Amino acid sequence: TWTSSNIVEEQVALIREQVGDARVISALSGGVDSAVSTALVQRAIGDQLTAVFVDHGLLREGEAEQVEKDYVEATGVDLKVVDAKDQFLGFLDGVSDPEQKRKIIGREFIRVFEAAEREVLSTPGTPVKFLVQGTLYPDVVESGGGAGTSNIKSHHNVGGLPEDLEFSLIEPLRTLFKDEVRDVGRQLGIPEAIVGRHPFPGPGLAIRIVGAVDSERLRILRAADAIVREETTAAGLDAEIWQFPVVLLADVRSVGVQGDGRTYGHPIVLRPVSSEDAMTADWSRLPYEVLERISTRITNEVDEVNRVVLDITSKPPGTIEWE
Ligand code: XMP
Repeated sequence: TWTSSNIVEEQVALIREQVGDARVISALSGGVDSAVSTALVQRAIGDQLTAVFVDHGLLREGEAEQVEKDYVEATGVDLKVVDAKDQFLGFLDGVSDPEQKRKIIGREFIRVFEAAEREVLSTPGTPVKFLVQGTLYPDVVESGGGAGTSNIKSHHNVGGLPEDLEFSLIEPLRTLFKDEVRDVGRQLGIPEAIVGRHPFPGPGLAIRIVGAVDSERLRILRAADAIVREETTAAGLDAEIWQFPVVLLADVRSVGVQGDGRTYGHPIVLRPVSSEDAMTADWSRLPYEVLERISTRITNEVDEVNRVVLDITSKPPGTIEWE
């Protein structure tokens, strides 16, 4: 029968056999899948693994610190943090088109990750031969791959390295569903703040700011988002919400009143959804008291925001994210 400790033992043995004494590299995104797959590989081969965390500055309040401190403490992983915040912000400057944002972020991520790879490769010892991927069973089915722990060859495009350099993939979560991945993560001692995390898009908060991204807008959105997460967690709603995007309409202003003064601030959109797989979604019927607390706190605590609105569109026709 399936238990998370069986899976851990079984995968640890398989990974050791697969890797031998080669070196392995892994990218941590801050999300659940990469956190759990990386921790499994670390459990199996320890210091033969180097994990790379590219901090693009687009994560939510406290998330980068959770990866850099709590996750490292809990797993003992050898982590290389690349602070690329200024680089990402620089390239995003003045860009408001959603697809353009995604392109820039994807491109810069690969650039930064490859530079980190080259550094790992330049340290003496056996060459890096394996790349960890947090592929889950639903991803495997979607791409028609079938389940298994097979060793798929992948051409990894590493600039500046010999063209024929090949990475094999280690995909220890290939047979698991999300809930099972979370159980395995708990078994490995990964902090609940990471294991219980909702899905979060790779481009991060950049696609939750409607308009151009800058550090001031990120600060406003982070503050509002942190309040939302505090309140939904306190109300015990995290498990029934699939995802809860909080969106800043940075180019929209509306008139409000506070004390005896008129305000002219930005709206925050709340987009809590329920879903099975993100392909379709319904808006979450959150208790009014929770919505009220969120609205009151955001407008009191985040000066630049004077209005909080609730998105009551299903998917389709709406998407989960606003961009
Ligand atoms: P939509 O907005 O299309 O989102 O309903 C469906 C799911 O995909 C996530 N999402 C992304 N994930 N990079 C990602 O890694 C992206 O560019 C991206 N855009 C949307 C979204 O959060 C939801 O879970």
